[in-house]
Amino acid sequence: MKKLAILGGEPIIKNEIPSELQTMMKWPIINEEDEQAALDVIRNNSYSGVDITEKFEKEFAEWIGTNYAVAYCNGTMSLAAAMFAIGLCKGDEIICTTKTYWASIAQASTFGASVVFANVNDMLSMDPDDIERLISPKTKAIMVVHYISYPCDMDKIMAIAKKHNLKVIEDVSHAQGGMYKGKRLGTFGDVAAMSLMSAKSFAAGELGIVVTNDKRMYERAMAYGHYDRNNENYITESEELIPYYNMALGGVKGRANQLCSALARVQLKYYDERCAEIRKAMNYFFDLIEDLPGLKPIRVDESTGSNNAGFYCAGVAYYPEALHGLPASVFANAVNAEIGGGQKWISFGANYCLHTHEFFQTFDFDQSGKPSRIANASRDVRQFDEALQASVDKQSVSAPRIRRYNKEWIEKFAQAFRNVVDNHEQLLYSIDDEEKTGGRWFGFDNQ
Ligand SMILES: Cc1ncc(COP(=O)(O)O)c(C=O)c1O
Repeated sequence: MKKLAILGGEPIIKNEIPSELQTMMKWPIINEEDEQAALDVIRNNSYSGVDITEKFEKEFAEWIGTNYAVAYCNGTMSLAAAMFAIGLCKGDEIICTTKTYWASIAQASTFGASVVFANVNDMLSMDPDDIERLISPKTKAIMVVHYISYPCDMDKIMAIAKKHNLKVIEDVSHAQGGMYKGKRLGTFGDVAAMSLMSAKSFAAGELGIVVTNDKRMYERAMAYGHYDRNNENYITESEELIPYYNMALGGVKGRANQLCSALARVQLKYYDERCAEIRKAMNYFFDLIEDLPGLKPIRVDESTGSNNAGFYCAGVAYYPEALHGLPASVFANAVNAEIGGGQKWISFGANYCLHTHEFFQTFDFDQSGKPSRIANASRDVRQFDEALQASVDKQSVSAPRIRRYNKEWIEKFAQAFRNVVDNHEQLLYSIDDEEKTGGRWFGFDNQ
């Protein structure tokens, strides 16, 4: 029996973190080409132009497979532009998964729309079988999020949207370049938007982008936050926009900084190749831990033509009942100690469920005296929140963020998981002791 490192046993990293391990985890990969592209922007003072951004938009649209792309200063703005593109407005309802980052959907409140949250399944992905119960005559759209890189079930979601005549926006911030049955994510809905900020798989500083095949949606997305591009060069078909040339119609400025567009152009060139290596590495890691009780890797079956893109924030569904009720937080701390090096290699949980946040319960954006989420609604959509407890109850831990294929270290990471599972009963004694004294779980550090 191995004594777990969190209880004083030997960790895998005994001294400094080896440089090959640092290389394996480092992201994004920046080389001289990125540096030169950035320097050109700095030297030419061309941050605020659009020439580089236009090139990036064209290349990105070609790569993802849509007719149009519009870059924005960040993903949050690009998602707001997508909402404007579909014509989201006062009194509309929009269905969104409850497990996502706030920027997938919080902007709906400023459009006067009501967010109706849907449950997630075990892969923490929007449960398509939970959507129809949420539809009302006011439902305008579904916000689909390919959460932590796992592609949503687009066949089912698009069929529901078609049946009920709903628009679909895809938030691809966690899955740029990912595939669903042989087609890129972001090309299924009416419009898609995504973050390309520095922590993402597609990392280009601070940037966002909207993609669509629909000219009118493109024009609306463009006009929302670009006063300098709301003109005859871009807006030609949307008659409702034409009288308002030279204004940003959302009253916001969302222009992309060309420093980021320049980086994005270089990143795009190598992106698919780099993601393929990430998938090789992460799939090997998941193969090694797949048989462990209580753990189920959050990954799609690649034989269907789908994939997890760059495995952004890759996760593992966690079932404490298979490990004598050991909480995911304790499990994660024990794995971190087992690997060693004083790093938080993994964490427990993912984003909290949005419907539990006070913002979606009480926040009154325009001081109307009513919570904004329901201020213009014909029903109190919050009454459905209790049906979302199933999502709150789901537990998960993250996987180590492996970015390069290094067989030896991947095996060591997997061994750390295995050590904790095989010896988890050592932690249960500690938990009991802590409980007796009214203390915290052993190893819990308020993550
Ligand atoms: C799912 C999701 N949507 C939207 C965003 C917002 O993107 P940004 O930070 O670029 O504004 C993020 C996070 O950054 C995200 O994780």
